[in-house]
Amino acid sequence: MTSTPHRQSSAVLDVPKPPDLSWHVQARLPVDYEVVITRGLLSEGNGVLARACGSDATAPTRCLVVIDQTVAGLYGDALQAYFSAWRIEPVWKLVRGDEGAKTLAHAVEITEAMTEMGILRRTEKVVAVGGGVVMDIAGLAASLYRRGVPYIRIPTTLMGQIDAGIGVKTGINHGQHKNRLGTYCAPEATLIDPEFLFTQDQRHVTNGVAEIVKMALVKDAALFELLERSIRGLDAETLASCGPDAREILSRAIAGMLHELAVDFGHTFSPALELRADPPLLHGEAVAVDMAVSLALAHNRGMLSTPDAERALTLMRSAGLPLTHPTFTVELLARALEDTVKHRDGLQRVPLTQGIGTVEFVNDLSAEELARAVAFVAERVISEVPPAAASAPAPAGQMRAIGEEFSDSEHVA
Ligand SMILES: NC(=O)c1ccc[n+]([C@@H]2O[C@H](COP(=O)([O-])OP(=O)(O)OC[C@H]3O[C@@H](n4cnc5c(N)ncnc54)[C@H](O)[C@@H]3O)[C@@H](O)[C@H]2O)c1
Ligand SMILES: [Zn+2]
Repeated sequence: MTSTPHRQSSAVLDVPKPPDLSWHVQARLPVDYEVVITRGLLSEGNGVLARACGSDATAPTRCLVVIDQTVAGLYGDALQAYFSAWRIEPVWKLVRGDEGAKTLAHAVEITEAMTEMGILRRTEKVVAVGGGVVMDIAGLAASLYRRGVPYIRIPTTLMGQIDAGIGVKTGINHGQHKNRLGTYCAPEATLIDPEFLFTQDQRHVTNGVAEIVKMALVKDAALFELLERSIRGLDAETLASCGPDAREILSRAIAGMLHELAVDFGHTFSPALELRADPPLLHGEAVAVDMAVSLALAHNRGMLSTPDAERALTLMRSAGLPLTHPTFTVELLARALEDTVKHRDGLQRVPLTQGIGTVEFVNDLSAEELARAVAFVAERVISEVPPAAASAPAPAGQMRAIGEEFSDSEHVA
């Protein structure tokens, strides 16, 4: 940190006195964290989590495990066995993992668990385990407690593994607004084990795929083509087993996200839709509906050819993502855009695809254009593929044995 008096005095004793004195303070907060993909995170022989918790098994170490109660039901025993093997003494804090749990009260409750435990500010870690919701509220709690304590993220949903768990944002919903209160607070490490996805239901897998499609559309044409080839078989089993395609899809999505950290494509109109949608939509589903209209906006401006617009919409439909929603009216779009303009400091800054794989920002969208874009998508949705809500959840089983691929940890960044 440097601080420079704006007005210097030549004589040491003659220090200028207020009101004629000011300082300019400049500092940069370092962002320094690791994202690790590993398989068999909870196998005793895998030291990745133990090291992140500061344990080498020679002395007891404590941590606060903030865990989605559903995930605790599925993986709590395996986690406990792992901790015992590494002499880690967890204090468990079970939390709800649904969107309704993203409240300030829930974040504060987590800070209270830290007080009750008497967590040591630097050495004892908060370990957040669950989907994007737990990543967001536990991250916010960790950033608020004593102005910030170190925390580890273990995302267990696809959305968490390729997006919510690997960036630097934390947040909760407030009033009628998505993520209205939040902080930037990087974890010490994010540990990604695709095997957690074995127990994800198809609707939530598809939800995460929406963010992967987003990444492909804005910055990775090769990922887009890979998705076109493999989208139909892209289920929990395929992703969790980490075959070559799944492995490449996950790595490219994560690397793209870490390179950009904030990709707003599909996030202009979706926050307003996500909180108001009736019937409700998951985050990625709302992003998909936003992406469809954004593709149409780009197409109508001549930024995206008709065949490419069709390809992108077809990919989303093949993934089982919704392209339209009854709540997504032209009026809602206009109101959402107004709020986005406030978020983007007075400018629309709406990202639109300039061909597949690149993005450009526009600031002059008109209400008439919004209406034409909505109509463009509606015309193409002849028989809307509903979100894969009806698919039966994959059986909640034990994690598979560690495979050959990804058997060692892989540092993505
Ligand atoms: N901070 C960010 O940068 C960022 C980025 C993207 C999304 N998000 C936020 O993430 C949230 C969505 O996250 P999500 O899609 O992971 O939803 P989620 O956290 O609500 O989890 C979805 C469901 O899956 C269950 N679950 C979690 N892991 C499981 C597993 N391995 N097996 C079976 N069930 C499991 C949960 O209990 C929950 O019912 C939204 O609130 C969104 O705003 C944040
Ligand atoms: Zn998102």
